[in-house]
Amino acid sequence: LKLVVLISGSGSNLRALLEACSDEAYPAQIMAVGADNNASGLAHAREFGIPSFIVSPADYANRVAWGEALIAEIQTYSPDMVVCAGFMRILPANVVTAFSPNLINMHPALLPLYPGAHAVRDALADGATVTGATVHIVDEGVDTGPVIAHVEVAINADDTEATLHERIKIVERELIVHTVRNIAHAHVNLQELAR
Ligand code: GRF
Repeated sequence: LKLVVLISGSGSNLRALLEACSDEAYPAQIMAVGADNNASGLAHAREFGIPSFIVSPADYANRVAWGEALIAEIQTYSPDMVVCAGFMRILPANVVTAFSPNLINMHPALLPLYPGAHAVRDALADGATVTGATVHIVDEGVDTGPVIAHVEVAINADDTEATLHERIKIVERELIVHTVRNIAHAHVNLQELAR
């Protein structure tokens, strides 16, 4: 399964995938890593010798034009699936149309609870005792697409946003590696899930 991975930040989920893909027995390959900014996580791609690209919305007149540039870059690598792993922008409709349902996202909460950019903070503020991580198909909403898999993480009384997010990210790394494997082995069918 050929992947393009999109990131905005530190790229710890990307790194987990890069490490998994460096095992020949793992059924996926990362063809390229894309970012919306000069993300620190692009260093992981360089370390593993994987090409990368940056398509920044600031360089385009509007979201449609930005989306077209992103689509063109991604299509250069002919991926079977696009993985948003800490990509902190809402994708324009043209990008969703171009790749969905073969377009998945990792979110640090148990969707449909706590969508959006502050999921960890929102779970804490809500007094939740359990949250988690979810991999889902990207549709045109914000964190609304069909859920592929999720894992729970208990919230401790003394958790801060940072400590809780760190524990969620540990779970996310395993979840993304496991989910991509299941999709590659056709144990999960994205077309069916998106119906
Ligand atoms: C992850 O928690 C992901 O769920 C969220 O942003 C974080 C990205 O972390 N969308 P990293 O860049 O993979 O380290």
